Amino acid sequence: MANNNTLIPPARKPRPGIERVDARDKVRGATRYAADDVRAGMLHAALVPSRIARGRIVRIDTTAALRVRGVRSVLTHENIGGFDTGGFLMAGGFGFQSFYPLRSDQIAYRGQSVAMVVADTLEAAREAAALMVVAYEAAAFAATLGTADAEPLAQSAVLPQPMFADRRVGDAEAALARAEVGVDLRYELPPQHQNPMEIIATVAEWSDDGQLTVQEPTQNAESVRHGLARQLGIEPARVRVLSPTLGGGFGQKNSLQSHTALVALAARQLGRPVKLVMTRAQLFHNASFRPASRHRVRLGADRSGRLLAAVHEIDQQTSRHDLFPSVGTEITSRLYGVQHFLGRERLVRTDVQTPGYMRAPFEHPAAFAFESAIDELAYALDRDPVAFRLANDAAADPLTGKPFSSRHVRECLMRGSELFGWQRRTMAPGSMRAADGSQVGWGVALGIYKAAMAPAMATVRLRADGTVRVAVGGHEMGQGLRTAIAVTVARALGTPVAAVEIALGDTAAAPQHLTAGSWGTATALPPVVEAIERLKDDLRQHAGTAAAQAPDAAAVALLRASGRPFAEAQSRRRAPGQPEQVYGRLTGGLPAAAGPVYPDFVSFSFIAHFVEVRIEPTTRRIRVPRVVSVADCGTVVSPRTARSQVEGGVVWGIGAALRELSEVDPRHGGFLNADLAEYVLPVAADIGSIQVDFVGEPDLRFNALGAKGLGEVAMVGVAPAIVNAVFHATGKRLRRLPVMLEDLYGA
Ligand code: MOS
Repeated sequence: MANNNTLIPPARKPRPGIERVDARDKVRGATRYAADDVRAGMLHAALVPSRIARGRIVRIDTTAALRVRGVRSVLTHENIGGFDTGGFLMAGGFGFQSFYPLRSDQIAYRGQSVAMVVADTLEAAREAAALMVVAYEAAAFAATLGTADAEPLAQSAVLPQPMFADRRVGDAEAALARAEVGVDLRYELPPQHQNPMEIIATVAEWSDDGQLTVQEPTQNAESVRHGLARQLGIEPARVRVLSPTLGGGFGQKNSLQSHTALVALAARQLGRPVKLVMTRAQLFHNASFRPASRHRVRLGADRSGRLLAAVHEIDQQTSRHDLFPSVGTEITSRLYGVQHFLGRERLVRTDVQTPGYMRAPFEHPAAFAFESAIDELAYALDRDPVAFRLANDAAADPLTGKPFSSRHVRECLMRGSELFGWQRRTMAPGSMRAADGSQVGWGVALGIYKAAMAPAMATVRLRADGTVRVAVGGHEMGQGLRTAIAVTVARALGTPVAAVEIALGDTAAAPQHLTAGSWGTATALPPVVEAIERLKDDLRQHAGTAAAQAPDAAAVALLRASGRPFAEAQSRRRAPGQPEQVYGRLTGGLPAAAGPVYPDFVSFSFIAHFVEVRIEPTTRRIRVPRVVSVADCGTVVSPRTARSQVEGGVVWGIGAALRELSEVDPRHGGFLNADLAEYVLPVAADIGSIQVDFVGEPDLRFNALGAKGLGEVAMVGVAPAIVNAVFHATGKRLRRLPVMLEDLYGA
């Protein structure tokens, strides 16, 4: 966008970094996604959605559908035969929810599948799906937080695990009552959907000897493998899942989907490969989404500007059939050095598919509420919002008393202030104007996200022709994992980046950990690095004394000196404090990540966002011409992809604050705006300058690489920085997202 703001400092030169190893293939369209998979004799499937939000199927008529030329089969709960549930990921199972359609006549949410048509062509399958006649017996339902028919459930009472309990230190209620200055504020955030470019597609094929191969974009190939084996009653050894490249995951693809077994069952029944590609509208109802949430934040401080106490209470939407846990106060309890904190989360059952992890799933909503309230408190104290945050930084973890493995919040705020030019900001709301009459506002907010690690196993093979093959757990979904691995391997072995071949997301190549929670790099790289060290030891041993003593002898030269065609080494690593048995969870497809609390420390990544907004005087349209974000993610392994991650997080934060909303008509359930025309995302014209910088201090306490995590923290705090800037521009506090034009009328 045109940018005539004289306050904007000149753009910095981009930091160096190799290009993405998969960039060329992607832009040429050469990358093959699951939906591109074509196999001999392949059939096509289409789903039939429920048109009620709760109840049961009383009659299902397949006659018209079966008459369509090319239709091979219509699977319904009446004819599919028994198959097992894959369970719910957060309750010991493998799926994003415990509800698997077609196992009964039950309807749990609008848009749930009631049948799947299989035909020779996609067109025939979709035509037949539209001709299905289904009669329902509808029951009363509640599809939104506002229409929920029961009291919220206290999470600490319904989920016994300590990580879901109330977070309590000191006596926050008593300290609040004593505080000289306080705020008591309520916030609301809507349901949202991930909407990756790549729609979920599944291809299933059985070999003659009963081996099942499934290609599906997933962040968790091992859970798909084990979940499917359980559903179909076969040995996991007979299932291979391939997910080499995702066109975006963002948590939507982080476990077994409820349609996958249907495709595998159809392929087995028909003795042909079957492919299902969902439509965008079906994606809104067949995979998870970000649940709606309501927040109440109470803060107390003394007149000198010291934060004394905080109470953060969250109500989060879940489904009727599962308890999707809320952990927003995991981060808000660690933002500041507060002596009295109480975090309490409650769940609200609604008639939807089970919500799930959508990028910074709890952290974005929780930080929106908490960092907006902190801004209000700073203003109530007449303190500059950056100075207030600096004055209340935490020295140790308020909850556990443990040290942070590293914490550079101060550096993020100081460097961000300097790059942004914060000292030129005037404190009073409405005090800054652009030449064209627009109101100008500058806002700041912090983001924080746990630094987690999962167990992983790696194999590195160096061949005498100089090529290297790396197989490790992890999924490439655009975040740049392949690039981070390639850079690291090339550097460690002295080979060109192009000589490194990397197998990811293949259950036959390495056990696949769930790749989520921004732990992909910190999880996959340490075992790869260790395997390379072992490989080099092995090469030196076999190369003979003279070669081994040349300190800078290239790995491939040592290999050739030994006369072997290849050398291989393996390693496996787990998070600090994890027991040996965690490898069994990894190979069994169960969640196995640890963090943020480890035996000797707690680990988080941090970010400070500085945002300028401009508000047009007549339309009240909010623009975000520039953002400065400074992150503390430990070592930056791949500067180019790291910068893109932060830019992506900022864009998503702009979307979350100003655009994204999955609309629900409480009379009908489901999601109304289930396409990219009406689910409004930021586009290029909505994005101005995004300047990214990193503290860059390695966190060697956390792992030998020094890398914490980056993908999700990047988005945390963007939305509150935007609404804080809107307040600074207009004097109006906005406590419900997304912000609508009419919210600013009169301001
Ligand atoms: Mo991510 S929302 O942890 O897949």
